[in-house]
Amino acid sequence: MMIPREVVEEVRRRTDIVELIGSYVTLKRAGSNFGGLCPFHSEKTPSFTVFPDSESFYCFGCGAGGDAITFVMKNENLDYPSAVEVLAARAGIQIVKEQEKSTGGLTRKRVHDMNKDAAKFFHQCLLAPIGAEGLKYLTEKRGLSMALIKHFGLGFAPGSFNMLTDYMHKKGYTDAELAQGFLCGISQKNGRAYDYFRNRVMFPIIDTAGNVIAFGGRVMDDSKPKYLNSSDTPAFQKRKNLFALNFAKNHSTDRLILCEGYMDVISLHAYGFENAVATLGTAITPEQARLMTKYTKQVIICYDADEAGQRAAVKAMEVLGQVGMDVRVLHVNDAKDPDEYLRKFGDARFRRLIEGSRTEFSYKSEKIFAKYSMDIPEERIKASEELCALIAATPSKVEREIYASMVADKLKISIDSLKNDIERTRSKKLRALKQKESKDAGLSAKGYGDRVNPDTARNVQAVAAEEAIIGLLMLYPEHRKMITSGTIALTEEDFFSALGKRAFARIMKMEQEEGGFSYSLLGEDFTPDEMGRLQSMLQKRRALAENGTAVLRASVTTLLEQKRKSDARESGDVVQSIQQLLDAKKKKQ
Ligand code: UTP
Ligand code: MN
Repeated sequence: MMIPREVVEEVRRRTDIVELIGSYVTLKRAGSNFGGLCPFHSEKTPSFTVFPDSESFYCFGCGAGGDAITFVMKNENLDYPSAVEVLAARAGIQIVKEQEKSTGGLTRKRVHDMNKDAAKFFHQCLLAPIGAEGLKYLTEKRGLSMALIKHFGLGFAPGSFNMLTDYMHKKGYTDAELAQGFLCGISQKNGRAYDYFRNRVMFPIIDTAGNVIAFGGRVMDDSKPKYLNSSDTPAFQKRKNLFALNFAKNHSTDRLILCEGYMDVISLHAYGFENAVATLGTAITPEQARLMTKYTKQVIICYDADEAGQRAAVKAMEVLGQVGMDVRVLHVNDAKDPDEYLRKFGDARFRRLIEGSRTEFSYKSEKIFAKYSMDIPEERIKASEELCALIAATPSKVEREIYASMVADKLKISIDSLKNDIERTRSKKLRALKQKESKDAGLSAKGYGDRVNPDTARNVQAVAAEEAIIGLLMLYPEHRKMITSGTIALTEEDFFSALGKRAFARIMKMEQEEGGFSYSLLGEDFTPDEMGRLQSMLQKRRALAENGTAVLRASVTTLLEQKRKSDARESGDVVQSIQQLLDAKKKKQ
């Protein structure tokens, strides 16, 4: 954590949430609370409530909720540390950032300083005679302007084995530090340090707070590996950061564009698409998807045109869909990647591609059309079968009808018969599901479309039980004690949804290792939408009179039972589930 918890708590204490929110929203007193029109969705009658007692807010209309920090994050589109800083400044508190958090003796601050010095060195080399080849590559071969090179802080790592290492020694860094920061390697033979990046053009990776957290280095010819990247350090985890998000976050109101390569992003920015980001040499992770939800609601995936790129795009669609992102896909034609596309066809045509970027459905349906010829009846039948299956899986009837009308013409089938087929496929699917899941099928239908916690669809009862537990744990220290003391045996693994697991783990870690639970500190690890969901768990429990340990125990029992059922069902082993139930019964007797 960058900001010490005492500071967060001081900020919270000194912030009057009614006054804070009241400066954006007209609030009217309603009993001991305050109500107003929700700033996060459009409404005519107020369902947005501020609770001064618990220093929180919650909208019963759209589910937005949290504390003062969440409010600032959502309202100003800021990440957690920045929101705390805004509130601290407002309350006249000076923040001294924690420098202690360290792994292997190296603090984040030290890694940041080291990388910053290295970035300066690489950049200076690029502009000096020694970097002539690198500069030529970037300007002539890749068409980058000097302004752009400066903007991204690009650099050049000389072919020498010790130029950077020597430079960094003079700045006071030790071999051990440089090695841990992945700026040098240590020779197996003589134990001496040597520069890790050599004869490469360098791309510094900068986080949203402006720290240089890592480097990617590209060769200037076709040798392998094309890129060398810093491995994870105390200051850097690949799976949690995105290239150029430090710039893109200021242009993300409408959407972010997600690419595969550093060069794609740089070209996009050069042509005016400053909302482009890229992953750091890996497939997109859930952490990166969640990170993006802090800044935008829509992502356009713009991957390479080749088979590998398109496969990766399908996977990215899933990962982004899981966090509730509105996902579009853009395919560049007649170019291998967005970089080449822009240089060949220019920004106007790329803008048209963005406007025409397809939703998941159009993308998938076009793939089906591309596979089959509409002039051959057998192939047309195959295409319509696949399309029916695709459309039948869409929960909303309105959407199904729209999709049907979109493809009917192309299939040369009347809309009505297509719709009939779709609905028939759908009822068949539902019936099969019902048989398999018996009464849970109906229930799980209720959970479809829960974007904040997509696991809800798989077992509504399990999620309801874990939400009750989490609500209780957040509200009552004595309930948390029952867990830490082992009076009630409950672990992260017992939770059903990924969100439930994360929430439980975080709450209990704070309780056990960090001096106690604090709702405000959750904002560091959960998106504002997730904070809203956590707030709703709190509110629901608060509204109920009976919250004793009997309720906690009963909820735990329900969770364990439901989870066992779902696990058994998902592993397809009913016999095992029955056996487990019998075993559990025996134990009780
Ligand atoms: P690409 O091969 O598409 O690279 O890999 P690129 O950035 O578009 O570069 P150009 O256009 O060929 O110059 C996409 C991304 O995958 C990672 C890098 O992050 C790269 O930007 N990658 C690729 C590696 O980490 N290592 C490699 O050897 C290759
Ligand atoms: Mn590429």
